[in-house]
Amino acid sequence: MTVPKRTLLVTTPIYYVNDLPHVGHAYTTIAADTLTRARRLARHDVFFLTGTDEHGQNIERIAREKGITEQEHCDRISAAFRALWERYDIRYDRFIRTTEDVHRRGVLKLWERLRSAKAPDGRDAVYLGKYSGWYCPRCEGFKDEEELRQPGNVCPDHERSCEWTEEENFFFRLSAYEGWLRETIEGDRLLIRPESRKNEILGVVKQGLKDFSVSRARVKWGIPVPEQPDHVLYVWVDALSNYVTALGFADDGEAYRRYWAGGDERLHLIGKDIIRFHCLYWPAILEAAGVLPPNREFAQGFITRDGRKLSKTTGNVIDPIALVERLGPDAARYFLLREAPYGADWDFTDSAFVARYNADLANDLGNLVSRALTMAARYGEGKVPARGEPPVARGGTPGGDVDFTETFAASVCAPNDGLAARVLGRYEEIDFSGALTELWSWVGQFNQAIVQVQPWSLAKDPQRRAELDAFLYRLIEGVRLVAVLVAPVMPRASSRIFGMLGLGEREPSPDDLAWGRLAPGAPLGTIAPLFPRVDKTTDQKETPVSETTPPAAATPLTPASAATADRIDIAEFARVELRAAKVIAAEKVSGSKRLVKLQVDLGTESRQLVAGIAESYDPAALVGKTVVVVANLKPANLMGVESNGMVLAAAIDGKAVLCTFDAEVAPGTKVK
Ligand code: MSP
Repeated sequence: MTVPKRTLLVTTPIYYVNDLPHVGHAYTTIAADTLTRARRLARHDVFFLTGTDEHGQNIERIAREKGITEQEHCDRISAAFRALWERYDIRYDRFIRTTEDVHRRGVLKLWERLRSAKAPDGRDAVYLGKYSGWYCPRCEGFKDEEELRQPGNVCPDHERSCEWTEEENFFFRLSAYEGWLRETIEGDRLLIRPESRKNEILGVVKQGLKDFSVSRARVKWGIPVPEQPDHVLYVWVDALSNYVTALGFADDGEAYRRYWAGGDERLHLIGKDIIRFHCLYWPAILEAAGVLPPNREFAQGFITRDGRKLSKTTGNVIDPIALVERLGPDAARYFLLREAPYGADWDFTDSAFVARYNADLANDLGNLVSRALTMAARYGEGKVPARGEPPVARGGTPGGDVDFTETFAASVCAPNDGLAARVLGRYEEIDFSGALTELWSWVGQFNQAIVQVQPWSLAKDPQRRAELDAFLYRLIEGVRLVAVLVAPVMPRASSRIFGMLGLGEREPSPDDLAWGRLAPGAPLGTIAPLFPRVDKTTDQKETPVSETTPPAAATPLTPASAATADRIDIAEFARVELRAAKVIAAEKVSGSKRLVKLQVDLGTESRQLVAGIAESYDPAALVGKTVVVVANLKPANLMGVESNGMVLAAAIDGKAVLCTFDAEVAPGTKVK
């Protein structure tokens, strides 16, 4: 492809280390990794930056609660992020931590510049002022009174009371940058996408921008303000600076000069929750400091579950570890990027994940790769077939109307409008689902071509050998190109397809985008299933990913690591089949004080169980209760009575207390 080589920076937000990584973090990081890989395929020089945001009051509080130092806490959680990125095949160039010395030095350099900077109105860009207002320690930010819920001045995001705060702070004169920001954003010198987010931000500017305070008293865990050592720099100023400090801003380092000061694009991928900080505060701070501002920002949508915000408090979380372990990193990456346009909000469901895996990966792509390669290997004695002449002319038989002539090659690889250019163009627009949809339309056409051309019929006629070879050559070249173009999203599958094509399991390079790189006569590799189908009824691994699982095994997260050593993982737990069961009949087991024989309705069957609860429950009182049973226990014989399952109960002072539900639940419902 002949596009001029550009020098590009791609960043994710740096993530708070308040808690373990969640799926929203994985979503942005996968997007950044995919975009980086796609841009490298288009021959650009790309630097991919991510990291962790480690200062602030929340960290002080959490460390205190855990009885460890702030640094120890940050080290653990930051390591959990890196361990997770490894599982997702994320390949960043730099992982910045705001507790690094090079970051502190960079922030102080920026601060020094801001202290002597003049705003567009000629006044000091930073000034000392008095702040009074409602402060939410969880947001690490001040809230307008109208935003708070009454009574109690409650922060709507964190359901906690805000604190009335009065302090002398340094302020940044954002109000003086209103005109500059409007022009920069309206004129797309800072390109904000999706368009709706650009309009949202312009709306905020229109309402009038307030100066914001950039130092904080009472917070200790941060970078002290040189002029006011009992204050630290506001966590957002500290955090945003990472984008330049990580590149070596403090010492005017090589990466800073190349990818920031001298780069063509400074792109921040962010969430829609932090657009004000990134699209208003950050560009204005840099403009004041005489540093180039970012020139592109893309705000991703939010993932919800059952239409609700992901939240630990309500229990609807999607565990990124369970997600990657369920069907592997490629499938997780593919699903997150394919299921919805990147800028839109969308709802995650386990069933959509499995359905898409089976339909798109096992069926469409997996079948194409295995059918194309099996036929090429079978009819060509394990070697790449001859290129030959156009096999079946348009409209000819038995090829139907599939055009597999040279125009096919041309249309796949045409420099401006071919498949490769279109897919790379979609990636470049940060339209991952568009890139994959485009690619899958080709996967579909290749599959259809196999059915129409019927290579197995051609193979029966020795006269048509050349046509067969030429068709198969084009088919596996097409497969090779799909592998190249899907690599940014699914690097493992791509390299496995390369292996099967006899090219060695490796990452594709920009040269691999050219048509005709398979050498006729070269040996093909070993064919192996790419994405084995998941059968919902027999799948042992059918683990919902919406459960919270223990943290990344590689990273002990509590000081008492021994306490977590014998924990089980979610897959082990998933082997236990818990179901709601309604008691239909109950009677004492004769000769036993403790045992009661139960007949329960399990939705699809009725079962006999024996439970040791007779001393706590009168059998008659049990009838009609809905309890929780372990439904897949091996049968046991208790005092001559067969038991097919176990009823769950707690033991309080030797008395059994049954596990029941606090709302109506149908018999047979799975409990997880
Ligand atoms: N530390 C700040 C960012 C500083 S950047 C200079 C922060 N961190 S965060 O840990 O809260 O991560 C925020 C980002 O995570 C969001 O902007 C978004 O990219 C991502 N997501 C968090 N929850 C999300 C969803 N439920 N869905 C999609 N992405 C979400 O803010």
